[in-house]
Amino acid sequence: MHILSVADLTARQIERLLSLAVWLKRYPLGTQLKGKTVALVFEKPSTRTRVSFETGIGQLQGQALYIDASTTQLSRGEPIKDFARVMDRYVDCIAARVFSHSTLEEIAKHSAKPVINMLSDLEHPCQTLADLLTIKEKLGRFKGVKVAYIGDGNNVCNSLMLGCALAGMDIAISDPPHYKPNQAVLRKAKLLARNSNASVTITASPEQAVKDADIIYTDTWISMGEEKEERKRLKVFRKDQVNGKLARHAKKNYLFMHPLPRHPGREVTDDVFESKHSIVFDQAENRLHVQKALLVKLLGRW
Ligand code: CP
Ligand code: NVA
Repeated sequence: MHILSVADLTARQIERLLSLAVWLKRYPLGTQLKGKTVALVFEKPSTRTRVSFETGIGQLQGQALYIDASTTQLSRGEPIKDFARVMDRYVDCIAARVFSHSTLEEIAKHSAKPVINMLSDLEHPCQTLADLLTIKEKLGRFKGVKVAYIGDGNNVCNSLMLGCALAGMDIAISDPPHYKPNQAVLRKAKLLARNSNASVTITASPEQAVKDADIIYTDTWISMGEEKEERKRLKVFRKDQVNGKLARHAKKNYLFMHPLPRHPGREVTDDVFESKHSIVFDQAENRLHVQKALLVKLLGRW
């Protein structure tokens, strides 16, 4: 089984995964990954993903191999499908952070071992699983919860839509024209939301999205690989800043979430980020617990 998208999991599997993550959070050390090797392949930088995967695998007595893709023969043109077939012979799981989602699909196609998406241009499923765990911990439920996503309709937004729809939360998204979420993912999220009696809405303004929200969520306006568009993007997203004024439209005890890294003074101001509403570091911590659960499930019996 590969996890390239949040939607590779069913609602029931997510529920079980989160329960295991809660258990592993309480009992962090174990032998569940003893004798297992996980390759962590990075085409892009990372702080949280790398450290949480490496730490988590070590805590369960597995072996993590950090692989900077630029130091492999991939950088000299080795075909990705050969890379996948070779890795498949050595390791028990391949986790990869890639520029193009098609790279992950190619690895998955040529590996019998589970492949995990550690972020692509299309999705960031490990982030969403940690987000779901965090919301469940903080609010104790998914049903009836409204999430407002403000900003770029990027990988984080795509996965979050799917995660909310599977879990049964309503999500309202406000992003500028031309920066909307992926349309195929949006259609899928709407279908999933129908099954869970939830809604996925694209709204006209940040204020409308945030109205009565339990959670305000934002992400960088400039994702990895988009640095050349910085000037244009700073202009386009000017009105999409999460700040105290916008947050006044949310519920009084709203929670603020961000996958990190943030860009101070851009997508979120300190009056929100540093406030009692912000749960971003609990969210970051939960990457560790949920990814351990994911590996235990994938490398053991689901
Ligand atoms: N949120 C997240 O994936 O962080 P890193 O880029 O630091 O791994
Ligand atoms: N959307 C961001 C997420 C970083 C964790 C990016 O792709 O760079």
